[in-house]
Amino acid sequence: MSSNFEIIEKDAAGRIGRLTTPHGVVETPTIMPVINPNIQIIKPNEMRDYGAEILITNSYIIYRKDELREKALKDGIHSLLDFDGPIMTDSGSFQLSVYGEVEVTNEQIIDFQQKIGTDIGVPLDIPTPPDVPRSRAESELETTIERLAQARELVKDGMLLAGPVQGSTYPDLRERCARKLTGLNFDIYPLGAVVPMMESYRYADLVDVIVSSKKGLDPTAPVHLFGAGHPMMFALAVALGCDLFDSAAYALYAKDGRYMTSHGTHHIEDMHYLPCSCPVCVNRTAGELNNAENRGELLARHNLYVTFEEMRLVKQSIKEGNLLELVEHRCRAHPRLLDGLRQAYKYSDWLEQCDPASKSTFFYCGPESADRPEVLRFSNRLDRLTITGTALIRTNPVKRDREYENLLIFKPPFGSFPDELSEVYPFNAEVVAVPDYESLGRALENTIRLIELNPDAKFTFIRKDGLEHPLFGKLAGIVNMVEKVNDSEQK
Ligand code: GUN
Ligand code: ZN
Repeated sequence: MSSNFEIIEKDAAGRIGRLTTPHGVVETPTIMPVINPNIQIIKPNEMRDYGAEILITNSYIIYRKDELREKALKDGIHSLLDFDGPIMTDSGSFQLSVYGEVEVTNEQIIDFQQKIGTDIGVPLDIPTPPDVPRSRAESELETTIERLAQARELVKDGMLLAGPVQGSTYPDLRERCARKLTGLNFDIYPLGAVVPMMESYRYADLVDVIVSSKKGLDPTAPVHLFGAGHPMMFALAVALGCDLFDSAAYALYAKDGRYMTSHGTHHIEDMHYLPCSCPVCVNRTAGELNNAENRGELLARHNLYVTFEEMRLVKQSIKEGNLLELVEHRCRAHPRLLDGLRQAYKYSDWLEQCDPASKSTFFYCGPESADRPEVLRFSNRLDRLTITGTALIRTNPVKRDREYENLLIFKPPFGSFPDELSEVYPFNAEVVAVPDYESLGRALENTIRLIELNPDAKFTFIRKDGLEHPLFGKLAGIVNMVEKVNDSEQK
């Protein structure tokens, strides 16, 4: 019901959207570079050159420092940062999670954010860390929801208001919180307290948090993944329905000599080559970058380039309808990301409901692809296929065989489908010539189910030479199995 957000294109649960703020429209998914009001390595206005459309800063840091507070109250946040585009401000909750307390109330910080002319304000939520006892997660969530409701009462127009979803690592609390906040009608829904999860590479748990929260939210509402700034996880998070990200990482990593890529992070000291063509990297060797007196600044610039580059690729993938292929590629960069991918595909039934029914050619990228929503969708719809009489199932299409009334194509990871569908999405998939165990298993399961759903039809299955799987035993019990060794039959 958020009228400030318009969805333009979709792929999996990801989308390209337009978020309208008092200082203009932002195209999502996008990253908000975090601006430290005290130290600016890259000037806010220069951020546009990297692709930034919206910035985020911390209102509590401004509030706490007389000089900044006075100027912000007098001239506004846009003048303070010298940026005339949209600005989101956080509330001090992060300081609350690190130091245990802050010297400001929810009411005060909401009032302050309104007075300085923030585009998107955030109440003082409690970022409950992962793995705390359930009683603590519940009681902190109650306080968070009270404060959010109070903020919703205080902010009537002008500033957009974010309602952070909390609930620690309890999926039911996340979902319940999301549902409650949806009833209060926020403009943006950040998913909170995920920083500790990302720092320890708990991507499977992160996937649980995202999906459980999304399940409680209106699917048309914009979602912000709080504190997520590493480009290697953008594709995964966007595919699960996150629209906004913020990156302090570009600067924090740079300070530590860390060079970001869409596959992971390198220590600049260990680099012999620079695998990037941004203005920082094309003009120097790895050694020159490492020894530069402004190394931190240069690394921050490079990090910001690759951050926005990856987000543009994610957006292009949504347009092309191959976001899940990008996700599968990126999630091979680290085994823990692969855990995240596998966890995401455990929610294929949910993803399937968001996923457009037709898009660009499905590319098989490895065993995980057998669990893609498109494959599940076919499994779920097997009962729509009615087959009567005789049917031949074979791997390669041939001219219609008059001997049989039906011709079905066996194509892992899907299973068996009528020959007429061969050129139709997703059956026109590009798949490996030799299917792996998972892909073959899924296809055999679906074929067995299809046969069981059509008990009166008489099936003959031509088994391609060399294909092995335990489920062939079960299949052999319900079809007339023809073993093919002759090459000419396979073409
Ligand atoms: N920054 C990172 N995580 C959080 C969070 O959970 N809440 C707020 N307000 N800011 C954050
Ligand atoms: Zn670079």
